[in-house]
Amino acid sequence: MSVLVVAGTGTGVGKTVVVAAVAALAVDRGADVAVVKPAQTGAAPLDDGDVDRVMRLSGVRTTFELSRFPDALPPAAAARACEMPPASMASAATLARELAESNRLVLVEGTGGLLDRYDEDGATIADLARTLRAQVLVVVGAGPARSTRPRSPWRRWPTGGSTWRGSSSGAGRPSRGRRSAPPWPTWRCWRRGPSRECSPTAPATWRALRRSSTSRGAG
Ligand SMILES: Nc1ncnc2c1ncn2[C@@H]1O[C@H](COP(=O)(O)OP(=O)(O)OP(=O)(O)O)[C@@H](O)[C@H]1O
Ligand SMILES: [Mg+2]
Repeated sequence: MSVLVVAGTGTGVGKTVVVAAVAALAVDRGADVAVVKPAQTGAAPLDDGDVDRVMRLSGVRTTFELSRFPDALPPAAAARACEMPPASMASAATLARELAESNRLVLVEGTGGLLDRYDEDGATIADLARTLRAQVLVVVGAGPARSTRPRSPWRRWPTGGSTWRGSSSGAGRPSRGRRSAPPWPTWRCWRRGPSRECSPTAPATWRALRRSSTSRGAG
């Protein structure tokens, strides 16, 4: 059948909900649907991922999550942070092709924004769509564009700086445009659940985040 890549302007814009809605509509019309998530970031090993939400919302049972990283970062940075191999877009392309050839509608959900990097060569979900000659559905958020970033205590402000908001003096108060170093060792507080095991890699994570946010502007 065909492949539809669902990408977005950033994280949290509604890609998963759109994938579930399209999947439910297609199933209603009698299509055999498969959902592929090349890289799930910001999820510990036992957490629900996006494909679990799609299964719950749409009833589709053929789903594939090809890689998972605990840090809520763009895929390449998330892999670097935990010293894991990056997501393989070649594998994602092969799988999507095979599923489409077996007469399925294949929905591929991107991670973060349309141009977020998946590996050290800078592959993006847009590249995957081009490789597959797939149609792309871009989900646009109502607010300012955001990339995949830790949800707390980091927050990106429209003026451009990533602002630490976990200090004892100014918790929750934004300092517009200023980039400040996290006050060790409270850095590890933003990690949740089992991914706390990764806390010794916090300095690497911090460097990856800095590299990511400085090289990409939007993170
Ligand atoms: N049309 C909508 N109406 C109301 N709430 C929505 C809608 N679309 C998404 N949401 C809510 O917005 C939040 C983010 O949606 P979703 O998880 O689909 O985003 P995403 O782009 O897939 O995020 P991620 O980058 O984490 O994969 C969720 O809490 C979801 O329930
Ligand atoms: Mg999602």
